[in-house]
Amino acid sequence: MTAIPPETFRPQTSHPVRLQTAGLADAAVISALQQGCFPDDPWGSEAVASLIGQPGFFTVLALREGAEGDDPVGFLLARVAVEDGEIIAIGVRADARGQGLGRRLVAAALDGARTRGATALFLEVAEDNGMAQSLYKSCGFFAIGRRPGYYRRADGRVAALVLRYSYTGE
Ligand SMILES: CC(C)(COP(=O)(O)OP(=O)(O)OC[C@H]1O[C@@H](n2cnc3c(N)ncnc32)[C@H](O)[C@@H]1OP(=O)(O)O)[C@@H](O)C(=O)NCCC(=O)NCCS
Repeated sequence: MTAIPPETFRPQTSHPVRLQTAGLADAAVISALQQGCFPDDPWGSEAVASLIGQPGFFTVLALREGAEGDDPVGFLLARVAVEDGEIIAIGVRADARGQGLGRRLVAAALDGARTRGATALFLEVAEDNGMAQSLYKSCGFFAIGRRPGYYRRADGRVAALVLRYSYTGE
């Protein structure tokens, strides 16, 4: 039997995943997902709760529906300040990646920011995170800047690319 390289393996699941607006009561769940997705910069549930509680923030959870209840597999943290939206973090649990959930969460960020009055949506992505960069670029984001040494890594620091999506085409 021919082995399928992990980077091309797209697992299938019969259980649907729904996106749902989240709130303060979900801080611990979001913290656990964040820590699994960003081990070099883990956020505790109090830190997540203090973000969610700020004006302009919105949060989405991706929940896989199952006989034993909902299984949280992804999250989005975003905010809008005046006309600028920002994706603070997006993550999909490792065993749920490659099934279109990241793309659905980016779409939820774009929709959520637009309905809250944003004319552009910004984010930072690590220069060594090619997977996230290709996701954002395929959703219409463009690089507009670079912040050297922005992210911590176990073996040093890595730059962030600043990406922007324009709702107006400008
Ligand atoms: C980035 C992340 C959110 C993508 O989630 P995902 O559910 O796997 O994404 P999707 O299945 O929707 O794939 C969207 C796109 O990402 C890219 N992508 C996904 N898996 C990939 C892989 N194994 N190799 C290369 N590109 C890949 C592709 O462009 C893909 O588009 P396509 O399906 O049309 O080819 C997820 O990998 C993750 O949580 N990573 C850790 C946290 C992180 O880096 N967050 C973003 C920080 S800014």
